[in-house]
Amino acid sequence: MSQHNWPQWLPLRSDLRNLSPYGAPQIPSLARLNTNENPYPPSAKLVSAISKRVDEVAGTLNRYPDRDVVELRAELATFLNNRSGTSMSYDNIWAANGSNEVIQSLFLAFGGEGALGFTPSYSMHPLIAQVTQTSWINGNRNSDFSLNVALASAQIREIKPKLVFVTTPNNPTGTSVPLSDIKELAKVSAEVGGLLVVDEAYAEFSREPSAITLLNALPNLVVIRTMSKAFAFAGARVGYLAADKEVISALQLVRLPYHLGAVTQAIALVALEHQSELLANVEILVADRDRLALQLQQLGATVIPSSANFLLFTVPDSKQIWQSLLDQGVLIRDVGLSGYLRVTIGNAAENESFVMALAKSLGGKI
Ligand SMILES: Cc1ncc(COP(=O)(O)O)c(C=O)c1O
Repeated sequence: MSQHNWPQWLPLRSDLRNLSPYGAPQIPSLARLNTNENPYPPSAKLVSAISKRVDEVAGTLNRYPDRDVVELRAELATFLNNRSGTSMSYDNIWAANGSNEVIQSLFLAFGGEGALGFTPSYSMHPLIAQVTQTSWINGNRNSDFSLNVALASAQIREIKPKLVFVTTPNNPTGTSVPLSDIKELAKVSAEVGGLLVVDEAYAEFSREPSAITLLNALPNLVVIRTMSKAFAFAGARVGYLAADKEVISALQLVRLPYHLGAVTQAIALVALEHQSELLANVEILVADRDRLALQLQQLGATVIPSSANFLLFTVPDSKQIWQSLLDQGVLIRDVGLSGYLRVTIGNAAENESFVMALAKSLGGKI
């Protein structure tokens, strides 16, 4: 995106002048495989349940919504407890308009003195840090993109950040971090008075147990989840986190009043009521991911082992192949890693279009 030419009279903060807005392209295409969305739309049954609930809520829209989002937080706690064998209640959960807002609230409450993450990872972590005036440091990974716990621990001890971000499965690499490593990093973060934030936006696609199972023993651990990916609910904007009650109380200091609309709260509850139907598609996406990884390998690509609903793979020239795929109606993501592209797992037809287009783009070679 080209640099914006801000007019002189606009009193924009000087630290924002060189920033560009977040901008994954939203280009109408045959196969839109660039933002790790779930390709399966809500079923007719779910659409009608949502419409019915919206109808009920519509008659109350003269009133502000539940400011503390208690019912939804309680249901999210039950969902996590059932999956992870934990016993959390609503006061261990915070919910907002997508996990991006959850991340922003974490920076507002705890940022200040600095944050550390391990590149390459989710690009919004450093961007939200900058917008909230939190200094951000890019830590390192191994060359195969796995997290180097010894190196990460040394960096935490040296930098002493108040927030340490670990994304698992990681975006854009798909790699996951074992629970034992999360435990170690949480302990080291506690030593320097920081929180370890584990972004588990893609957890439901992974076989690794969730860091939620560690929350009881590690009060400085925060686990972020979202309904945008496995729940196929990206358009509704519902993200949440699980943490110690004191973390949640601190987040309430920085949230905007009535931040989560009544319609959003109501339809998120409907989605949770239909969780078995929605999560059934996760198994399909995982099987398709593994099949697509093999197809990419057959085309000669190196594929990073993924525990998420996307794959990072090698190409001879990322910019040229990305454009050539787009010219054929297939939109995937150039994540700024030279020699790599990322593709989201789509439905069967989209995956097929992608493989055909890629084979053509490569002219049979990688
Ligand atoms: C690692 C990670 N965290 C958080 C998000 C934000 O998701 P949302 O705001 O839709 O919940 C994304 C979206 O792609 C992501 O990849």
